Amino acid sequence: MDKVDLLGFGVAAVDDIVQVPAFPAAGSKTHITSIQRQGGGQCATALVAAARLGLRCRYAGVLGRNELSDFVRQTLERHGIEVIERHAHPEAMPCYSMVVVDCSTGERTILSYLRGMVAPDDIGAEIISASRCLFVDHHFPAASVEACRIARRLGIPIVADLERVDDGAVREILRLAGHLILPWRVARAVTGEREAERAAAALWLPGRACAAVTDGARGCWFATGPAGHEVRHQPAFPVTAADTTGCGDVFHGAYAAALLGGRPPEQAIRFAAAAAALKACCSGGQAGCPDRAAVERFLSSF
Ligand SMILES: Nc1ncnc2c1ncn2[C@@H]1O[C@H](COP(=O)(O)OP(=O)(O)OP(=O)(O)O)[C@@H](O)[C@H]1O
Ligand SMILES: [Mg+2]
Repeated sequence: MDKVDLLGFGVAAVDDIVQVPAFPAAGSKTHITSIQRQGGGQCATALVAAARLGLRCRYAGVLGRNELSDFVRQTLERHGIEVIERHAHPEAMPCYSMVVVDCSTGERTILSYLRGMVAPDDIGAEIISASRCLFVDHHFPAASVEACRIARRLGIPIVADLERVDDGAVREILRLAGHLILPWRVARAVTGEREAERAAAALWLPGRACAAVTDGARGCWFATGPAGHEVRHQPAFPVTAADTTGCGDVFHGAYAAALLGGRPPEQAIRFAAAAAALKACCSGGQAGCPDRAAVERFLSSF
């Protein structure tokens, strides 16, 4: 198997992005200003972000023989991302989401339909060892934890994005990931802390290269270094947000790209924040992923 930079285990989605002038109150009526179908999902979007930044990427999710699966395959392959499909699962479905974007703030609300998703099986060391970095989310915990164990044994860095920690396997991923980047609501639930800064400190473990907590336009708090004592804040870059769909996913993909480019975690966090801010300026998830030149240009303007 050819070596790739980033291997992704997790969710791919089809997002129908619906823009409304303002998010409707329950029981009200509103008109839609635009509808657009795009690829989405934590893992697929992180891979697209990394691919846009020049990484060779591989997706290890299971897709079926249906319109939504074909859409995901096409969007990944358009970005040069290889989809490995070892066994046929004709009935498998990607996640389907309706993303409602409030045009007055750029804030997104996501409604997801997860039925029909099939976990990847037959994870061998071969596929993991053919990768320089592993990305996992929480969607297929048994498969992802197995992938993480193999990656740990092989010394391959793991970047994890968990939006739910309510299962033993996900808690094991939480323990195994060397680069753990959680959204604040999850970090708060996991640590019981009331401040993101303290949550980042609590998520750091010996041997963990980086524990980070992201909180949208409030930026990111992260603990790095051999003792993890130092928690620093990376402010969100000041942009006029048009649509924050996928900012977290792009943050993870860009972090992996910076890490594999040889940047230490604190610089990778800054690079990731810049990529996510540029994404916030564009409508949609994957369609808004910036390329490396755009991120470097943006960073040099600060
Ligand atoms: N409005 C914004 N302006 C600038 N940067 C933003 C904005 N929203 C998000 N970001 C950047 O993206 C990072 C991740 O965003 P956030 O914490 O919202 O992720 P998330 O909750 O995982 O969202 P999702 O997974 O749905 O994209 C933030 O730490 C910040 O750097
Ligand atoms: Mg997220």
